[in-house]
Amino acid sequence: MDFSHIVEPALAVSTDLLVIACLGDPSKDATFRLVDGAVKKALSEAAEAESFEGKSTQSLTFRVTTGLGARRVAVLGAGARGELGPAGLRDLGAQALQLANRLGARSLALVAPALGAAREASTVQHLVEGAVLGAYKFDRYLTGADAKKPTTLKEFGVLTDPKGKKASAAQGRAVKAALERGQVVAAAVNRARTMVNEPAGFMTPSQVAAEAEAIAKKHPAVTVQILGAKKCEELGMGMFLAVGRGSDQESKLVHLTYKPKRARKKVALIGKGVTFDSGGYSLKPSNAMEDMKVDMSGAAAVISAIDAIATLGSDCEVHAVAACCENLVSGRAYKLGDVLTSMDGTTVEINNTDAEGRLTLGDAITFVRTKVQPDEMFDFATLTGACMVALGPYTAGVMSDHEALCKAWLATAERTGEDMWRLPLNGRLREQLKSSVADMRNTGDRFGGAITAGLFLKTFARDTPWVHVDLAGPASLSTARPAQPRGGTGFAVATIVEYLAKR
Ligand code: BES
Ligand code: MN
Ligand code: ZN
Repeated sequence: MDFSHIVEPALAVSTDLLVIACLGDPSKDATFRLVDGAVKKALSEAAEAESFEGKSTQSLTFRVTTGLGARRVAVLGAGARGELGPAGLRDLGAQALQLANRLGARSLALVAPALGAAREASTVQHLVEGAVLGAYKFDRYLTGADAKKPTTLKEFGVLTDPKGKKASAAQGRAVKAALERGQVVAAAVNRARTMVNEPAGFMTPSQVAAEAEAIAKKHPAVTVQILGAKKCEELGMGMFLAVGRGSDQESKLVHLTYKPKRARKKVALIGKGVTFDSGGYSLKPSNAMEDMKVDMSGAAAVISAIDAIATLGSDCEVHAVAACCENLVSGRAYKLGDVLTSMDGTTVEINNTDAEGRLTLGDAITFVRTKVQPDEMFDFATLTGACMVALGPYTAGVMSDHEALCKAWLATAERTGEDMWRLPLNGRLREQLKSSVADMRNTGDRFGGAITAGLFLKTFARDTPWVHVDLAGPASLSTARPAQPRGGTGFAVATIVEYLAKR
């Protein structure tokens, strides 16, 4: 699919499908009125007949006989201007694309909603992201013919001004960059989705490593290092290796590095890479285990983000580290009551083998802190069901005791429209992690489970500026929206790229 900036009056564009977004009441929307005038009020008559009020999810389509360069018009409800954020724009882009494919259109021209000059480039970026995200399907294992039906849309044009007013050179460049950025971000999100959607039987620790190797191969500025179990043993990663010990799949520590010519700072991204979480001997019930291939979503996000960061460029040196393993049961698996020694020497008593993510991440954090020595580090993990209990399925929990870094991160998430909310790292809850036989135990009580997990990780982060993102909820969803089918979401990729890739 080709994306372009169309600088022509909307009424004149020759296209299979002209799509306009209507911000609430059509009689007050300037673009709606412009097009309505050209088709002799046929649009407002259709709106009236179908009770179209410009609410989001509402739409109207209309075959044009005269008055326009387009062969069809579609009006998508965009809701009130004040409520239209990045996620709503992505849905609009996705709806436009999906409608075009349903109608068998080869080309479409979408008039970007007028949200003000300051938001023009980001509006275009989010619309384009939506189109690429809305085209996503995980159909590798579907054999039926219509599951693989080819799509028709080839040309996706965006108008930033319905009257076709010529943009300034700077504006034109900004829109062009936004078209590019939107495609790159969404491709990385889609890549992460596929890594998550692939069954655990395929997406093993070695396969995650292979994905990272494929990304490194694409970009001269990216290198990859895969540490096998033996090397991790030498490094003393006793917590990480214990979790994977019950599996026949070898545990792998995946380390991707993006190095620009001159780096302003060094940032490390750490992803939870449990490719399947059975719970271990603290076995999950079947229904809770069913979707546990998603437990490498953090790894998928940080690895895929490197792809986009390397494509767009960054003035930061960026490291992505994922400690990948399977949490299974067998004669070799770790047990309740075991005492593990972590890479930093802390001993940990296991009172629940299902709290495995913090063990793998604890050692990954120590690896990053001591070997990479970043200025900042972030971890992304499907860590606790408790985080979903606290915030629901759509919102990630953010924990940090570094005020400035945490605020910068949340402000970035605000710009990308990924829902994130800070939870307090209340030190008083640390009491729950006390053990009589080791320095710590790996789980606390039921209440505050997302926070005790965060406090456990904090032990290993020590004084390195660090932000923990628990994405157990939003990493995978059973509810779809236009820009996001059910299953793996690629959550966090957009915010990571927004935080690190240069403009
Ligand atoms: N991978 C799970 C958390 C999870 C739950 C992710 C649901 C995605 C959806 C994690 O390893 C886990 O099992 N956590 C336990 C922690 C508990 C034993 C303290 C949980 O949340 O029940
Ligand atoms: Mn678990
Ligand atoms: Zn887990």
